[in-house]
Amino acid sequence: MESQGTSSSHNIDSQNRWRAEQAIAGNAEALQALRELITFPLYYSREAQKLGLKWPRGLLLYGPPGTGKTSLVRAVVRECGAHLTIISPHSVHRAHAGESEKVLREAFSEASSQAVMGKPSVIFIDEIDALCPRRDSRREQDVRVASQLLTLMDSNKPSSTSVPQVVVVASTNRVDVIDPALRRSGRFDAEIEVTTPTEEERFQILKVIMNLLNL
Ligand SMILES: Nc1ncnc2c1ncn2[C@@H]1O[C@H](COP(=O)(O)OP(=O)(O)O)[C@@H](O)[C@H]1O
Ligand SMILES: [Mg+2]
Repeated sequence: MESQGTSSSHNIDSQNRWRAEQAIAGNAEALQALRELITFPLYYSREAQKLGLKWPRGLLLYGPPGTGKTSLVRAVVRECGAHLTIISPHSVHRAHAGESEKVLREAFSEASSQAVMGKPSVIFIDEIDALCPRRDSRREQDVRVASQLLTLMDSNKPSSTSVPQVVVVASTNRVDVIDPALRRSGRFDAEIEVTTPTEEERFQILKVIMNLLNL
């Protein structure tokens, strides 16, 4: 598990604040969805309570490797000043029975303790296909890890009194091999495909990288 707190304050109106577009290009739809998912529950909490609105709590990003899924999540988290807890297959898969489940529980509890303090809190499960594969291709270890993950996602319900919530974002290169139970309502109920960039987007990506290189 990796954890990252951003030092920038959560300042929406500042003209000079860092924007995700400084690190990534293209992927407009995913960018917008991530921004809304992370910040709307915070900005529109009163309206949501009055209208009885519920935000999706899980977003699944899928698409070919190298299309910027991981970078996209990191950039939006940085932009929003959110707290980021990363769960990756290599951080979860441990030799001793029960340890992997513990890593998952700790990640969720760390994320919710940040949310309780009023900070947007994001759990990013990178390469979720390795943690929660389809049932027919699971090993014994996978069964326990996958069921722990589903339990944690199901218990991550926003209560009516506490506004802050934990948003769970997952990414996969192989959407066809993940457990379909993950995509049920109340879990990853929003999905966005991250596609290979168009010619124009490739040009924009190159510009972003050139800027970062500061040539
Ligand atoms: N749309 C993009 N904008 C900027 N950089 C990108 C983009 N897509 C990919 N990259 C770069 O390519 C590399 C791989 O991206 P990554 O986020 O790891 O892809 P994925 O998680 O989809 O496999 C990163 O170094 C990233 O900076
Ligand atoms: Mg990735």
